[in-house]
Amino acid sequence: STGGSGEAKRNAGESAAEAVEDGMVVGLGTGSTAAHAIRAIGRAVDAGADVQGIPTSFQSRQLAREAEIPLTDLDSVAEIDLAIDGADQFAGEHLIKGGGAAHAREKVVDNAANRFLVVADPSKESERLNHPVPVEVLPSARTTVAEDVRELGGEPDLREAERKDGPVVTDNGNLVLDCAFGEIRSPGELASSLASIPGVVEHGLFVGMADEVHIGTDEGVEIR
Ligand code: A5P
Repeated sequence: STGGSGEAKRNAGESAAEAVEDGMVVGLGTGSTAAHAIRAIGRAVDAGADVQGIPTSFQSRQLAREAEIPLTDLDSVAEIDLAIDGADQFAGEHLIKGGGAAHAREKVVDNAANRFLVVADPSKESERLNHPVPVEVLPSARTTVAEDVRELGGEPDLREAERKDGPVVTDNGNLVLDCAFGEIRSPGELASSLASIPGVVEHGLFVGMADEVHIGTDEGVEIR
């Protein structure tokens, strides 16, 4: 998707995949950077590693199948050892996700993991979060949620599909409002406010969730 070279994304994804150890249950993130981690985990499985994956989206399930990673789900495991996922923007340990409309399941899986590694290229980094926040909404609630978002000082925009007439429909059958708030000074407060709006399924603010960020460049990777 946007910004960052393929090589940078590959370096980030492959670096995070190195944290996967034999016997682990791993949350498999969504997007072009996490896809590199999934392929690298697939190669480890091919080489004999005993790893089970929990996908966060239709896309990551599909990639995991192609990579022949045995799959499981949240109901079937005692814990998730590690999750690896991309981000649309990061500032320290705070993230904005949902550029691929997958943030609801991503948040459940990433939050449940004992360790959450973010994979990104340098174009995703920002001093303060200022990227529009994707908000997944029940289709019938999109107008009332939009009003409440405006009251919070945000500008909601219904996400339109690129190769279909009409809106993006999430893997869960819902719609996405991309909500611009300018610079987000208190991510925690905004996260609570958005979560308390009736009809909001999940928003893309991941507050204080990242344990490590693997920032890939054309030359290598920096881990923070
Ligand atoms: C999916 O909904 C998002 O949260 C992705 O993780 C995010 O958009 C990162 O994708 P890229 O790695 O393709 O930029």
